[in-house]
Amino acid sequence: MELIFSNLIINWYLSHKRILPWREISDPYKIWVSEIILQQTRIAQGLNYYLRFLEKFPNIATLANASEDEVLLQWQGLGYYSRARNMHKTAKEIMEIHHGKFPTDYESIRALKGIGDYTAAAIASFAYNLPHAVLDGNVFRVLSRYFAIDTPIDSTTGKKQFSELAQELLNLKNPALYNQGIMDLGATVCLPSSPNCEDCPLQNSCLAYGNNTQTNFPVKEKKLIQKDRYFIYLVITDTTNHFFLHRRIAKDIWQGLYEFPLVELTHPFNDPSQSEEIISALSDEFSDITITAVKPTIKHVLSHQNIYAQFVEATGKYKKKCDSKYIKVPKSQIANYAVSRLTELYLDN
Ligand code: ADE
Ligand code: SF4
Repeated sequence: MELIFSNLIINWYLSHKRILPWREISDPYKIWVSEIILQQTRIAQGLNYYLRFLEKFPNIATLANASEDEVLLQWQGLGYYSRARNMHKTAKEIMEIHHGKFPTDYESIRALKGIGDYTAAAIASFAYNLPHAVLDGNVFRVLSRYFAIDTPIDSTTGKKQFSELAQELLNLKNPALYNQGIMDLGATVCLPSSPNCEDCPLQNSCLAYGNNTQTNFPVKEKKLIQKDRYFIYLVITDTTNHFFLHRRIAKDIWQGLYEFPLVELTHPFNDPSQSEEIISALSDEFSDITITAVKPTIKHVLSHQNIYAQFVEATGKYKKKCDSKYIKVPKSQIANYAVSRLTELYLDN
């Protein structure tokens, strides 16, 4: 049974695999970079970031020796910036604890910061062909459908059940091929809302296909709750063509990135009187604020939050307090600061 399942997957993969740069290599550092990028991004977009990132940081040492700002700048636009910060910290950790050499066993890889079960299994199998099954969203979907398992995949029981099953099904001779294969099958054939069962090598024995219940799986326990937030950015310019930027340091979205002076409201905006609210909120650091343009509200969707953002352009004077939250940046230098995708969209317009 296990052999049939894994052989079907491997044979399908050998004739259908997508040729991707991180598949033709066994350098654990590059595989690590690819996995962290691909956790959050489609291949088409991730590919460019992968190539650019490796050009800038071709090995662990160059990444470890870079500044956090440089790393975030390479990551700009990808989102989930804590992953970039963790990679940077982990690169330093590998330099110190492992003398610059990527660890070669599963437990030591798993122990690195920012590397969870999935990424550790991916690196261990792709780089060293070690027998560790990957379990990501694609694998959850394929397995839950094939075996018609309705245990919620986001429950503790579900995670345990699926990870044991995935490990049992793993082809021990070819863990790398098998892992790539089942992920690719989920990504290209066993699609979330309309699986192409006619092209699937598992069709004959798939229970969900047999019962025509494909889209009942996987089952989830919790519905994701989105939080709404209301951001007003005051894009203040002084008479000498400078912007004022703040570096986000709090444990919140976009930690480490730069942004314009922000006022976060607890309520939706749209009435004109809120400009008073913004001006007074920033009056500690800026004076003579005159609003020159109010840009249309943008809805920016993140994984757990909807950000409603308004960019308000203004002129003003900077009071330059010694403990200021802001740095003064010539307009021409703005590209040297890593900003969120939201701010990037504003600047590109
Ligand atoms: N998504 C996550 N890891 C991947 C990989 N190695 N190849 C293609 N897509 C992926
Ligand atoms: Fe998924 Fe359909 Fe293949 Fe079953 S037969 S594994 S539902 S694509």
